[in-house]
Amino acid sequence: LFAGPIEFVKGVVSMSGLPPADRLEVCFAGRSNVGKSSLINALTGRKNLARASNTPGRTQEINYFALGESRHLVDLPGYGYAEAPVAIVAKWQALLKQFLQGRATLRRAFVLIDTRHGVKAVDEEILTLLDKSAVTFQVVMTKADKVNRETREANIAQVMGALARHPAAYPEIIVTSSEKGEGIETLRAIIATLE
Ligand code: GTP
Ligand code: MG
Repeated sequence: LFAGPIEFVKGVVSMSGLPPADRLEVCFAGRSNVGKSSLINALTGRKNLARASNTPGRTQEINYFALGESRHLVDLPGYGYAEAPVAIVAKWQALLKQFLQGRATLRRAFVLIDTRHGVKAVDEEILTLLDKSAVTFQVVMTKADKVNRETREANIAQVMGALARHPAAYPEIIVTSSEKGEGIETLRAIIATLE
C-alpha cells in the first residue's frame, strides 16, 4: 500500500525544526494516553516504531515518521495531561496551535477520542482550534476493544453530537482498536487515498 521505507525521521520541539515540507502529511492529535503512538504502530505494522507507554505525556515532541516515499505520519504531543507543569503545557499548546494552523503540507488531522470517554472539554478546545484552521479534521475513536456494545454506541452518539457543533469536521468517524486491529485497514486506506 505504501511503497518505500517506514521509519522514524525526527522529533522536533519547534516549528523551525520541522522537516522540509515536501510530503503529504497526516497528524494524530489527542489527549495524553488516548493511543496515538499505538495507532501509528498498528497502521504501520511496526510494533515499536512510535513509543507507546502507560505513562501519560510520553510523547513530548512532534515525532515524524516516513510512510513510504511520499507521506509523513506525525505523532503530536498529547494534551490534557493533569500532572504536567503549567509552563510545559503552555509550550505544548503554543506548538500544537502553530502546527495545526500553519503546516502547509498537513492534509488531515486525526483527532483521537477514547471510546470509553467520548469528547471531553480538552478535546473541544482542539476541535475549536481546528475549526479555525484550513486542515480537514476527522475523529478516530480508540481502544474500542475496552468497551461493551452499549457504551460504544452511547459514546459514538456523544461524539457525533459534539461534531454537529463543528461543521468543518469530516462527517465520518472511524472506530478503531490498535490492540485488535479494528478499523486499522479503513484508516490506512484513507491515508493512502489522500492527495
Ligand atoms: P502520549 O504519548 O502520552 O500522549 O500517549 P499516546 O496517546 O501516544 O498513547 P499510547 O499509544 O502510548 O497508549 C497509551 C496506553 O494505552 C498504552 O498502555 C497502550 O498499550 C494502550 N492502548 C493504546 N491503544 C489501545 C487499544 O486499542 N486497546 C487497548 N486495550 N489498549 C490500548
Ligand atoms: Mg505517544
